Amino acid sequence: MNDDPILYINGEYVSLSTARISPLDQGFLLGDGVFDVVSAWKGVIFKLDEHIERFFDSMLAACLDPGWSIDQWKKTIVETVRKNELHDATIRFIVTRGVPKEVVADPRSFDATIIVWAAPYIFLADEDTRQKGIRLMISSTRGFPSDSLDPRYKCLDRLHSQLVRLEALSAGYDDAIWLDHTGNVSESAASNIFAVKNRVVYTPAGGILRGVTRQTFVDLALAAGYKCEEVAMTPFDLYTADEVFTTSTAGGALAVREIAGRQVRQTAPGPVTVKLNEDYWALRESGVHGTSIYD
Ligand SMILES: Cc1ncc(COP(=O)(O)O)c(C=O)c1O
Repeated sequence: MNDDPILYINGEYVSLSTARISPLDQGFLLGDGVFDVVSAWKGVIFKLDEHIERFFDSMLAACLDPGWSIDQWKKTIVETVRKNELHDATIRFIVTRGVPKEVVADPRSFDATIIVWAAPYIFLADEDTRQKGIRLMISSTRGFPSDSLDPRYKCLDRLHSQLVRLEALSAGYDDAIWLDHTGNVSESAASNIFAVKNRVVYTPAGGILRGVTRQTFVDLALAAGYKCEEVAMTPFDLYTADEVFTTSTAGGALAVREIAGRQVRQTAPGPVTVKLNEDYWALRESGVHGTSIYD
């Protein structure tokens, strides 16, 4: 691994050790920015178009578009991975409202900060935990209602997620999910959640970031002949499921073996989780939905 990776920042490729953003940047001061995270495996980025589409939605809704075309984003993302000579990579692209022109900042007038950063591929859990499954708690912190901060914004303001993670780790769990303000199951800091019951695959319908991996697993479940339903779910649905798993760009499916002190019925990873995760990695390796970095 390169100790001093190259990243793109405001028009230049620079090493991480020399990269600078201003302490007055609104992304740093206020969490005023949006981002997305995509990954590459064996030299191929998976579903780059879908991630960029979600990123453009976040930018549009946050009035943050610096005017780059989809093609400019794609080229810069691919070039950043190339410069770091990575084949298995996690790539984060960020736009913030930048440094304000006035001391009292008017959010309509800004010079965006753009950063594209690539690191070796990140799995949410180490290999042993991926085999055994994770222990999840249900956080006492609720998600934002959509009339406050719609969870579909993939935004920099992540204190909420950090508090959830702190609560989980301090209580000895691997991670936590949160509920929405009505008590329905939402998601975790970096993943969506699924439950399998009697061979039907369920995932929360709303109050979530629309995970690209979540959609991939819905499509794979349907293609494999499972019924798949996007529904309102409560913790009871997780406690009584046969299998529970989370999904994210950082590893595909991660089996859950325990939820808030209840053992998940089927020993993790359960057969549906294993099947769908194998299909996910096979799809990635097939090159379908892939953007090749080195061809
Ligand atoms: C809050 C949240 N939910 C879900 C996800 C999973 O999304 P994806 O599958 O696009 O990685 C993420 C990813 O970071 C996230 O931050």
